[in-house]
Amino acid sequence: MTQSLREPSGGSPRDELLDLIKSVKEQVISAQDMYVYVDGERPAARKEHHNTPDADKETSMGDLCREVLNCRRCGLHKTRKNIVFGEGAVQAKIVFVGEAPGADEDVQGRPFVGRAGQLLTDIIVKGMRLRREDVYICNILKCRPPGNRNPSTEEISQCEPFLKQQLQLIRPQVICALGKFAAQVLLKTETPITALRGRFQDYEGIRLLPTYHPAYLLRNPPAKKQVWEDVQMMMNEIGLPIL
Ligand code: URA
Repeated sequence: MTQSLREPSGGSPRDELLDLIKSVKEQVISAQDMYVYVDGERPAARKEHHNTPDADKETSMGDLCREVLNCRRCGLHKTRKNIVFGEGAVQAKIVFVGEAPGADEDVQGRPFVGRAGQLLTDIIVKGMRLRREDVYICNILKCRPPGNRNPSTEEISQCEPFLKQQLQLIRPQVICALGKFAAQVLLKTETPITALRGRFQDYEGIRLLPTYHPAYLLRNPPAKKQVWEDVQMMMNEIGLPIL
């Protein structure tokens, strides 16, 4: 269906110009109607779907990961078996941050794969009804402190910039700080985890919710009730249905 441009109205030059603009607009609209859109979308919408920013995020995360894999900033590089960079979706709405890799994580090079990790996976899969790969999981430290000792101030200050970059790249809707250590480091506070948990805080413009560490839940199962309350707060925040 084509339309011809209207004849000039014979009025003032301004009227003729307005007529011309109106007629061109009509032509453009009718041309759009003849266009067959894939999935009913207009071209502009399809372009947005391309999601270039996510592709850029993947690239930047890959670059950062390669940098971390060569890291010798602190003494932990001498004792680690593997670096545990972190894993998951760069477009995740929620990022879980733990303390540091344990023995299982050190062997596999992946975060939260031991007993505490299984519990975290249950929280994600059975509690939130997401897949592990829908979220992002990482730690304050990328290397295991020998014998699972507490991370030192020096190790934290050397390693934390990597985590900061990960969080800034993802910029999730919610960061879940798992346990006292992650919460205190991210929030730069010494407030005990019992007082921090269950209350949203701000981390560089991102909502951050501290909760108990899954390893603590293994030692103290009744605390699961409070963690479930915290998980529901996070689900609410990112728009997940609570069944
Ligand atoms: N505990 C953590 O804090 N992180 C892990 O990756 C595993 C256990």
